[in-house]
Amino acid sequence: MNLGVGLTILHECKRLAETLRLRKLYVKDDTVNPTGSFKDRPATVAVSKALELGFKAVGCASTGNLAAATAAHAAKAGIPCYVFIPSNTEINKVLQAATYGAKIIAVKGTYDEANRLAAQASDLYDWALVNINLRPYYVEGSKTLAFETCEQLEWNAPDNIVIPMGSGALLCAIWRGLKQFSRVGLIDELKTRIIGAQPGGCSPIVSAFKSNSDDVIPVEKPNTIAKSLAIGDPGDGIYALNAIRESGGAAESATDAEILEGIKLLAKTEGIFSEPAGGVTIAVLKKLVEAGEIPRDEDVVCCVTGNGFKSTDAILKIFTEPVEIEPTIEELKKIVK
Ligand SMILES: Cc1ncc(COP(=O)(O)O)c(C=O)c1O
Repeated sequence: MNLGVGLTILHECKRLAETLRLRKLYVKDDTVNPTGSFKDRPATVAVSKALELGFKAVGCASTGNLAAATAAHAAKAGIPCYVFIPSNTEINKVLQAATYGAKIIAVKGTYDEANRLAAQASDLYDWALVNINLRPYYVEGSKTLAFETCEQLEWNAPDNIVIPMGSGALLCAIWRGLKQFSRVGLIDELKTRIIGAQPGGCSPIVSAFKSNSDDVIPVEKPNTIAKSLAIGDPGDGIYALNAIRESGGAAESATDAEILEGIKLLAKTEGIFSEPAGGVTIAVLKKLVEAGEIPRDEDVVCCVTGNGFKSTDAILKIFTEPVEIEPTIEELKKIVK
């Protein structure tokens, strides 16, 4: 089931690199996927597999982006779609999934509670819930982000790759994809450092990394503007932690203010409009470069995974209302010096 997913642009970001005094910086721009996020990658694989296995309905538990991605692919397939989301999910994401025709189940609670209910529903009904009972297929879809990046770097892996983390599945898929490319000889010996990024209001994987612990302690009540990353009990947390450690990488978080600054910085220097998850990536990049954790003479790929149009309620916080004027040159001259 294909809506034209992937093959997204790897932008060389000269202006942002200059601002951060980095030698070479790229953004893998997954905001331009058909439904506006990288989630189209796992959704296309999982919905295709659901059809192959003979399921008559699909669905997912979602913080918003997977809801839209699954709903769009279900619409194309002509089968019903049931999405379980926390009731505080950003309205644009709900609107998008509902417009594709999905049945929206807005759960009064956190993502973890919505996810638990979805898991029970997958037992009760004969539904293929893409990130629950089809998860082994779903997680493979995101490897394409790593494959494309290597190809776009002329069959090289970057020195560093910064990845936003919710459940940690994307980070694990990228690490697995890079290792597979190295194993079959499509890229040289793998030296990429995997860098995980989370919002400060929900950073269980970063906390475990920083405290050198193997316990990813769930965050009961996530509180962040990066709602797509607000997964308090990350399903792939321990595996993400292992991938970061195995690669010699790092993990860092960003406050809401830093996330908004990250969104602005990326938009103003590179013309890329991102949702808060991308703001987390850019904020963490900036922090780690300034801390000397990412050497300035190495190359870096940042994964920008969701479109800004999906999160206008958060981005409104940094929006300056335009000045209204009468349609005259005199009025114009008052505001353009
Ligand atoms: C835009 C965006 N980026 C990153 C992530 C994190 O993905 P994962 O849950 O696989 O860690 C999500 C999860 O929903 C997302 O919507």
